[in-house]
Amino acid sequence: DGDVFKYYADGEWKVSSSGRSVGITNPSTLKVQYKVQACTQEEVNKSVESAHAAQKIWAKTPLWKRAEALHRFAGILKDQKNPIAEALVKEIAKPQKDAVTEVVRSGDLISYSAEEGIRILAEGKFLVSDSFPGNGRNKYCLASKIPLGVVLAIPPFNYPVNLAVSKIAPALIAGNAVILKPPTQGAVSALHMVHCLHMAGFPKGLVSAITGKGSEIGDLMTMHPGINCISFTGGDTGIAISRKAGMVPLQMELGGKDCCLVLEDADLELAANNVIKGGYSYSGQRCTAVKVICVMESVAEELVTKIVEKMTKLKVGMPEDNCDITPVVSQSSANFIQGLVEDAKAKKAKFHQEWKREGNLIWPLLIDNVTADMRIAWEEPFGPVIPVIRIKTVEEGIHHCNANNFGLQGCVFTKDINKAILISDAMESGTIQINAAPARGPDHFPFQGLRDSGIGSQGITNSIQMMTKTKSTVINLP
Ligand code: G3P
Repeated sequence: DGDVFKYYADGEWKVSSSGRSVGITNPSTLKVQYKVQACTQEEVNKSVESAHAAQKIWAKTPLWKRAEALHRFAGILKDQKNPIAEALVKEIAKPQKDAVTEVVRSGDLISYSAEEGIRILAEGKFLVSDSFPGNGRNKYCLASKIPLGVVLAIPPFNYPVNLAVSKIAPALIAGNAVILKPPTQGAVSALHMVHCLHMAGFPKGLVSAITGKGSEIGDLMTMHPGINCISFTGGDTGIAISRKAGMVPLQMELGGKDCCLVLEDADLELAANNVIKGGYSYSGQRCTAVKVICVMESVAEELVTKIVEKMTKLKVGMPEDNCDITPVVSQSSANFIQGLVEDAKAKKAKFHQEWKREGNLIWPLLIDNVTADMRIAWEEPFGPVIPVIRIKTVEEGIHHCNANNFGLQGCVFTKDINKAILISDAMESGTIQINAAPARGPDHFPFQGLRDSGIGSQGITNSIQMMTKTKSTVINLP
């Protein structure tokens, strides 16, 4: 069927034997925009088999050649930034400019991974035995890093290209094969990215992209005995995967409820600008978006006034027009956000704007005087809706941040650097930003969540480390 995008396996584009497809709804038009193959369990099994065969060859390919192939991939991907961005606009309603940025950032991420792999995988360890009690100097240990085998990469809808390559590039430079399961919304952008990889020339079967319904092939993939590592970014599904997965290293980045803590001495203009960019960009559909503001009562009014004023300048509309606020990814997501808003309204939160929704397009809201009994104080809307909790003490804000199940990132605004560092130590989240909104990048920084926000640490360097194992050879002298 010419209308259905093919899946990628054994170095070829293929039609699934299922004869079925999965539709991708454009969040702006609510019409089916694209279709992808609904792959079968047999096709999953076959691609895992091919991946193992290809990985054996790839692991023996010199590191500098692996790096060269990744650099080629990065170059082709950057050349394709416009058509891929177009797909991102249609599949996930990402504003056009941000969509281009996502692709360019992905190219840079691939090149950096190649360079970083060259640096860190070149080094091993040499140990001698006589430092441990009872040993003479007769054992030499040579330790180096070897690949894990086949990495299963599952990125989410919000960065279907960038969060795919943030798994693929570290896996490949380290000598692994990859099975990519793209998110359904974002699948076409991801397949286009995979085509760039195809053009760059990697061994057949080393990377495959299997599209389809999570409910049909998800469990098989995540519980597959041939999968040696799972790198997942997304929501609650990650918790279910971690319960089912076998004895393989897991890298998980799940939700967040990133707290923006604003102290009395803060630069309120700076804080307000960061809430606008860090909270409302891409309609709040980022794990690292500001998802709750805890502000000291004495400066709350001034901060809220500034944010409300700046919110009037946010352009609400379609991604093709580069609007700041674009339709959220699905109807069910929009309904969920609406539920959180209605709950806050019923519990007497103060609304600075009227609730307005057309299809999946939700106008940005700042919800004030939020209290702990409201769902919005704790849950992650993944939409352009931010709650404000007015606090009497800094400890109250820290407590609110730490009491959440999520612990991805947080930020603190103050001019007192000593205070900021003490607060960063007290906030139990993977990263605390001082005087800026939460963000994952630059992409070589460590990126991790505590509690329900994740397992392990990402960032280029950490991902390469995580996708390798130490192997030792011990020379025993007479
Ligand atoms: O939501 C995905 C998460 O990785 C956010 O990345 O770059 O928007 O901070 P970023």
